[in-house]
Amino acid sequence: MAIIATLAAIPTLPAPFFLTPDLKPKRTMSDKSTLDSAQGADGGSNRMWGGRFSTAPDALMERINASIGFDKALYAQDIAGSVAHARMLGDAGILSGEDVTAICAGLEDVRAEIDSGTFDFRANLEDIHMNIEARLTDMIGDAAGRLHTARSRNDQVATDFRLWVRDAIDAAEDALKALQSALIDQAEAHADWVMPGFTHLQAAQPVTLGHHLLAYVEMFGRDRGRFADARARLNESPLGAGALAGTSFPIDRDATAKALGFDRPTSNSLDSVSDRDFVLEYLSAAAICAGHLSRLGEEIVIWSSAQFRFARLSDTFSTGSSMMPQKRNPDAAELIRGKTGRILGAFTAMSTVMKGLPLAYSKDMQEDKEPVFDAAETLMVCLTVAARMMANVAFDRDRLADAAGEGFTTATDLADWLVRKAGVPFRESHHITGRVVAMAEDKGCGLEDLEPGDLAAIDVRITEDVFNVLGVNNSVRSRKSYGGTAPENVRTQIAAARERFLS
Ligand code: ARG
Repeated sequence: MAIIATLAAIPTLPAPFFLTPDLKPKRTMSDKSTLDSAQGADGGSNRMWGGRFSTAPDALMERINASIGFDKALYAQDIAGSVAHARMLGDAGILSGEDVTAICAGLEDVRAEIDSGTFDFRANLEDIHMNIEARLTDMIGDAAGRLHTARSRNDQVATDFRLWVRDAIDAAEDALKALQSALIDQAEAHADWVMPGFTHLQAAQPVTLGHHLLAYVEMFGRDRGRFADARARLNESPLGAGALAGTSFPIDRDATAKALGFDRPTSNSLDSVSDRDFVLEYLSAAAICAGHLSRLGEEIVIWSSAQFRFARLSDTFSTGSSMMPQKRNPDAAELIRGKTGRILGAFTAMSTVMKGLPLAYSKDMQEDKEPVFDAAETLMVCLTVAARMMANVAFDRDRLADAAGEGFTTATDLADWLVRKAGVPFRESHHITGRVVAMAEDKGCGLEDLEPGDLAAIDVRITEDVFNVLGVNNSVRSRKSYGGTAPENVRTQIAAARERFLS
């Protein structure tokens, strides 16, 4: 506070950066009329609510209060909500036909100004709702003042933001589908390529690359399900809840809900203006999805390392090092992994804002927008980059196959063979196989390289037939249980995934 006071007191210093939010785009025409019309009759306070005030807010008050720097992103939703509201007021006989026509035409002109970048967003008008209304007043006069009949900014912002988040969900859904499509195509191209499957990042059992890629298709499918669930719950209209208690005007909330593509109006006016579950649900679905993207990014980072060499990212999604000429860095995959923090952070921020708020609206809730805007943009960038990156990644078949056999990954196949062919109980076959692995380790060879005599020396029941299951290709071919890694399963799953996710 001391620093702020000192800076403000020195007239020659420019305003501190935090008092001059960037409100571009600027209108080129004179902004005087909007400024004047924003003031009350006394010239000091805000016309939208300034009736009971005698002086204008402190500059610092404006700084903490104004949301126009970011909520201008809601302009299209705000105009759509206002048009629906005005028409409904007209149909209900609350506004005259002329007023409705003037309001709707004026709102279209406002939209055109914002679209073209000539609209003058003003911090002293706080937010997008009041900026639009003030400009509408400049354009059409008194009729603009009737638009806010039977409405409050509280139900207005709740409506606008639901519409915005609904669009964000639809965009995420499309991007997830595109990512799944890229992964399914790659799974198809690599349905029978063997690679090591890992547990504890230790080679465990051979799997097919197609199977591994389809695992991500499942994850992203669940993400789509979560977004769809969130959308279904979100899709109720709070418009008409008023400030908190509803309104005495004979409004038709079903009509505005329908006009805005909502399934129905919300049932409780207090809940309507104080609920941000739709934000939390969107952000939690986004955070889980980002977690999946992060795991994919992590695997690409590992796979493209010199030690693994499973995958090679295309030049278009790699970067070089300014010092080390040999480097090829998987920056895109790393950033997909890293950006998870922002999205999870947005969820954390919003759940912290909402906890402990008494009903109904509190200004804390204005804090809902920036985390969502940032998370939505970040998620879209990550999903889009991931789709392109995965469509372009190249895999090294020989390297994957070699690695698939490293680390005695067919030991389970030997143990299963003893159960199936020699009637040995699994616990015992596990023990016998452990001794075979130890022998191979001693000899420095793979299980399939041991001599039949070596195997028989450990247990006479092991015959040469065992070599049919020891190769990695044999191993994956045998894993035909539902959901297993066998190439024929993978091909069936690819067809099913196209049906479930892409049709
Ligand atoms: N800019 C505000 C927000 O985003 C709009 C609602 C303001 N309502 C109020 N009662 N001050 O939350």
